[in-house]
Amino acid sequence: MRQRVAVIGAGNVGATLTQRLAERDLVDLALVDVVEGLAEGKALDLQEAGPILGYDTRVVGGTDYAIIEGAQVVVITSGRARTPGMSRDDLVQANARIVAEVTRQVVVRAPEAILVVVTNPLDAMTQLALQESGWPRRRVVGMAGVLDTARFRSFLAEALGVSVGNVQAHVLGGHGDTMVPLTGMTTVAGVPVARLLPADRLAAIVARTRDGGAEVVRLLRTGSAYYAPSAAAAQMVEAILLDRRVVLPAAVMLEGEYGLTGVVMGVPVKLGAAGVLEVLEVELTPEERAAFLRSADAARELLQVMAG
Ligand code: NAI
Ligand code: 2OP
Repeated sequence: MRQRVAVIGAGNVGATLTQRLAERDLVDLALVDVVEGLAEGKALDLQEAGPILGYDTRVVGGTDYAIIEGAQVVVITSGRARTPGMSRDDLVQANARIVAEVTRQVVVRAPEAILVVVTNPLDAMTQLALQESGWPRRRVVGMAGVLDTARFRSFLAEALGVSVGNVQAHVLGGHGDTMVPLTGMTTVAGVPVARLLPADRLAAIVARTRDGGAEVVRLLRTGSAYYAPSAAAAQMVEAILLDRRVVLPAAVMLEGEYGLTGVVMGVPVKLGAAGVLEVLEVELTPEERAAFLRSADAARELLQVMAG
């Protein structure tokens, strides 16, 4: 029998993630949504694509959490997405209720799982899922850094006319306006990016990266990004399933790293079968460190809003 991955929320991110994972032919999939028929219909549709695309993935969907029983990885994408003019933080009250309720179901049905949180506001929702589950921090991780870094890399590759594969970068901090693209550590085929782009162009790319989610929201008008977010979540799920031990930026509870405790922040982590195997501490410039601390302050403020 194959391993099982469960995706909660059959909306844009959840359904596209399920499609990406189905097409990899790695695991069986369970898709859950609160809307009657939605997850079941999308799961059936995905299952029927198998013979055409050549995958044997079994995809089941429904409203009942019994279908996630025994899942090795559970991804939470359920909740409201942004519409134009809304910040991720505006979502906090509505999504806190949903994420808390979903986490309680996951704890009962998939007590050994690694939980990957996608719902926004990402850092606060990851912290909430961690608290609600009572699991160790290694088993509750948030997806944002892979997405923010992908946006940064894609804009840099476009500006320099090189393959995205040549651009190495990390974006740390919270998933929001205070995120911290580490320009000092960003290289193109080993060459520091600051030697390849004038400071004003680099600053414009950093600003566009911070605004990356909102840029898509403004264009779509009815929702937020999902192709790149689902690709980022799929990369994290695969790292866990295949025990890749890959270092990537992800949101995790800090326990003294970077001088911070008790707050979830995006930092480089080593991700494998047991979840977050290690939190890596990279050297930050004084400016990057100050920006990282500002980002942690913003995360704490949002936690207070969430606590009511
Ligand atoms: P969507 O609106 O397309 O889908 C959300 C789904 O969640 C809907 O199908 C809805 O019925 C379902 N849902 C609501 N309450 C539920 C519950 N209690 N149990 C199960 N399902 C429930 O939204 P989309 O675009 O898929 O985004 C989902 C979330 O992910 C949003 O909060 C969005 O802001 C966030 N997001 C986070 C990213 C990140 O980088 N961390 C990137 C992209 C989206
Ligand atoms: C994004 O960055 C909405 O957080 C989501 O696209």
